[in-house]
Amino acid sequence: MSEIASFDQPVMMKIDKIIDESDGTKSFMFKHKIDYTPGQFIMVWLPGIDEKPFAVSYLGDDFFGITVLERGKYTKLLHKMGAGEQLGIRGPFGHGYSFPDVIADGKGSACVIGGGCGMASVTILIEKLQANNPTILMGAATSTSLFFKNRYKDIILFTDDGSEGIKGYPTDILEELHNKHKYDIVYTCGPEIMMFKVYEFCKKRDIQCEASLERYMKCGIGICGQCVCSRQMVCKDGPVFNLQTLSNMHDFGKFSLLKSGRKVQLQEYAEWRSC
Ligand SMILES: Cc1cc2nc3c(=O)[nH]c(=O)nc-3n(C[C@H](O)[C@H](O)[C@H](O)COP(=O)(O)OP(=O)(O)OC[C@H]3O[C@@H](n4cnc5c(N)ncnc54)[C@H](O)[C@@H]3O)c2cc1C
Ligand code: FES
Repeated sequence: MSEIASFDQPVMMKIDKIIDESDGTKSFMFKHKIDYTPGQFIMVWLPGIDEKPFAVSYLGDDFFGITVLERGKYTKLLHKMGAGEQLGIRGPFGHGYSFPDVIADGKGSACVIGGGCGMASVTILIEKLQANNPTILMGAATSTSLFFKNRYKDIILFTDDGSEGIKGYPTDILEELHNKHKYDIVYTCGPEIMMFKVYEFCKKRDIQCEASLERYMKCGIGICGQCVCSRQMVCKDGPVFNLQTLSNMHDFGKFSLLKSGRKVQLQEYAEWRSC
């Protein structure tokens, strides 16, 4: 077992084992210690191909794992790799979720909303919130794309097509849940359109909210400018932003940059990203 810190250079690590999570989603486990705050990300280098950011979705004293949805060229190649093969890891980077006093003392009420592969970014957060008994909501397109549904006791599931759980989106029942639980904070990671709805809901009712943004990243450490969203660098200042900062980020929920650096409407960005 070896330890890694935030180095610019990747540390080569052997894949210890691979877990099939759902259709098109696999977790890659590494036997290494990592000093990780929920919401941060690591850069994963596939030599000769590319380097991409991923949240840590499994964390123990001497191991960690990432959970990867198969999308473009990079993730297709990653999904073909086997135990024993090596990947370069650097990080963790960025600012993760925060724990206001009312939450840190275990008495406050929290809600965690994960959408699609955004669920990977909230797993360690949910584990840290156990004393708060958080409401956990997960949305996915269909039953086969839901993952981690058996990892938590009381998770409320949603699918767009109604093939499992409640038909619709997690935001559909947020009002009803908030009336019951009086949330002190709502954490979210998933499609930006979903996170924007969560943000608007919280802003209207003066509830604290933290969202983990996804932008196309190249360097992961604040040099290239690829991940800029309204003057904030998602890799360095985020990827997690609170409600106050999000209110000043006018591109949030509206615009993003393609790999070329061209600014486009979020819909066009989402279509490009979804393959
Ligand atoms: C902070 C952060 C954390 C993340 N955590 C996770 C996680 O935990 N799990 C996870 O699965 N993902 C996560 N992601 C997303 C992940 O980093 C990859 O971006 C994602 O998996 C895309 O995979 P890909 O590289 O295979 O696709 P890409 O190669 O990025 O391609 C996506 C699509 O765009 C197309 N494309 C690529 N370049 C161009 C171009 N120039 N013009 C037009 N089309 C193009 C591709 O052909 C493909 O169809 C995270 C992202 C961020 C920013
Ligand atoms: S990815 Fe390069 S500045 Fe953020």
